[in-house]
Amino acid sequence: MSEATLTADISNHVGAVLVVGAGISGMQAALDLADGGYYVYLLDSEPAIGGLMSKLDKTFPTNDCAMCVMSPKLVDCGRHLNIELITYADVKGIKGEPGNYQVSILRKAKSVDEEKCTGCGECVTSCPSRYIVRAPTDEIRYAPALGEEDRDFLDRLLRQEPDIEGNLLSVLQDISTYYRYLPEHILEYVADSTGIPLARMISIATFYSAFSLEQKGEHTISVCAGTACHVKGSGPILSRLETILGVESGGTTADRKFTLQTVRCIGCCALAPAIRIDEETYGFVMLRGLEKILKEY
Ligand code: FES
Repeated sequence: MSEATLTADISNHVGAVLVVGAGISGMQAALDLADGGYYVYLLDSEPAIGGLMSKLDKTFPTNDCAMCVMSPKLVDCGRHLNIELITYADVKGIKGEPGNYQVSILRKAKSVDEEKCTGCGECVTSCPSRYIVRAPTDEIRYAPALGEEDRDFLDRLLRQEPDIEGNLLSVLQDISTYYRYLPEHILEYVADSTGIPLARMISIATFYSAFSLEQKGEHTISVCAGTACHVKGSGPILSRLETILGVESGGTTADRKFTLQTVRCIGCCALAPAIRIDEETYGFVMLRGLEKILKEY
């Protein structure tokens, strides 16, 4: 990690601006400002710009292809002479006054030589991280032993899938359904048995919100935070559930009964606000009905 302070030479510009967050709105703001003659620092905490929209297939409500909308903006931001991209970094502090701010940022280590990187993605597919020898620490973590049942399940699963690499997503789905999450020692076993790098499985597991590397509760409550549900009051519903269960979104109750999470549009906007518990969908949810719904479980 390294710290840096943003101090722009703005003699040839109207001024310098820092845009925090390089999602679709941040990119558009940066492009408008850059076109208006400002020198723009476009900062994002992720290693690449694009934000949440880059993970979507379609956009609500027009069903437009998300990448078709944002790709030209990605290219424009990357090429614009008035835009400097600062990725994998966070704002650490702001000093000064309107018109004369000094911003300190914390750059996280990318472990990549940005001058040489062409973005080919080869390093991801060839990542040898599963062979990394970790330095001994005081705390020794023992991976849970693979039981007879685990072995039977995994061997059967891997045997019946002729093209594991091509169907890795569905293999991970089967594992996730069986364990209700993706245990790391199970993924290691799959990696060792198939030769597929563990890093590839982890990258899939962390990309799709349907997967979790943490053990989930017996029941998963998904509160829809899509546009229709948001407008109809999904926010207070989430807050109420957090209070009842005593966990924040993304957490699991201490008795491992419920995991609470938010999701984007579960496909029944006409029933907004909607929640889903496991495979069961509840529409027109009201705050006063939440406890009754939970009692069913
Ligand atoms: S926004 Fe579509 S189901 Fe909630």
